[in-house]
Amino acid sequence: MAPADTKSVGIIGAGRIGKAMAQIARRAGRPVVIANSRGPQSLASLVQELGGGVTAGTVDDAAAADIVVLAVMWPDVSRAVDGLDWSGRVLIDATNDFDPSDLNGRTSSEVVADLVTPARVVKAANTFAAAVLASDPQQAGGQRVIFLSVTTPTPRPTSPTCSRPPDSSSSTSAGCAREATCNRSAAHSPATT
Ligand SMILES: NC(=O)c1ccc[n+]([C@@H]2O[C@H](COP(=O)([O-])OP(=O)(O)OC[C@H]3O[C@@H](n4cnc5c(N)ncnc54)[C@H](OP(=O)(O)O)[C@@H]3O)[C@@H](O)[C@H]2O)c1
Repeated sequence: MAPADTKSVGIIGAGRIGKAMAQIARRAGRPVVIANSRGPQSLASLVQELGGGVTAGTVDDAAAADIVVLAVMWPDVSRAVDGLDWSGRVLIDATNDFDPSDLNGRTSSEVVADLVTPARVVKAANTFAAAVLASDPQQAGGQRVIFLSVTTPTPRPTSPTCSRPPDSSSSTSAGCAREATCNRSAAHSPATT
């Protein structure tokens, strides 16, 4: 796997958010592979517009990157991630489900986490408009950042001392969504866009 500062980014979905995330990755100097369902040839003009460092690939190519961004509409999520090898992957889930009636009480991130097991899922970039994400984060003398709330499972105690009832936490972590019912630790940190 590449060193932290050169990790590749694969983007599944080449619409508004996919393009914005490609621009963010390029600002950070990361190589990008971007994909849609119609194949790389359909992305020729987009990769030309995005410039050097961005190549068009298949969904398999994008999913083989160190960091994978999921940027498809919610009804397309299952088909977009199906049949891929998610071992060792970090998936940034930028999707939104605007009709939660299909979630059965879970968060959409938990649904995605189950679909991409064993990838580690980070829910991010889903609350900014694509145009904002794509724009220069240096604004009015400051720098726009995204705050990430990451919940990670911690080892269970030898005696059960849950301070919260099972499933009381809204998890955005694949590991937590599947494994932990208590003793979760949360970290909040800004990530530059
Ligand atoms: N637009 C925003 O400002 C914004 C902001 C925050 C979050 N989001 C979320 O981001 C997600 C994408 O939104 P968007 O506005 O970028 O949508 P969009 O412009 O419609 O782009 C969706 C992309 O997904 C591709 N796609 C569809 N099915 C696919 C599949 N099976 N495999 C690979 N690619 C597939 C589409 O290309 P083909 O049909 O050619 O395959 C298209 O490139 C949504 O969940 C949305 O809620 C959007």
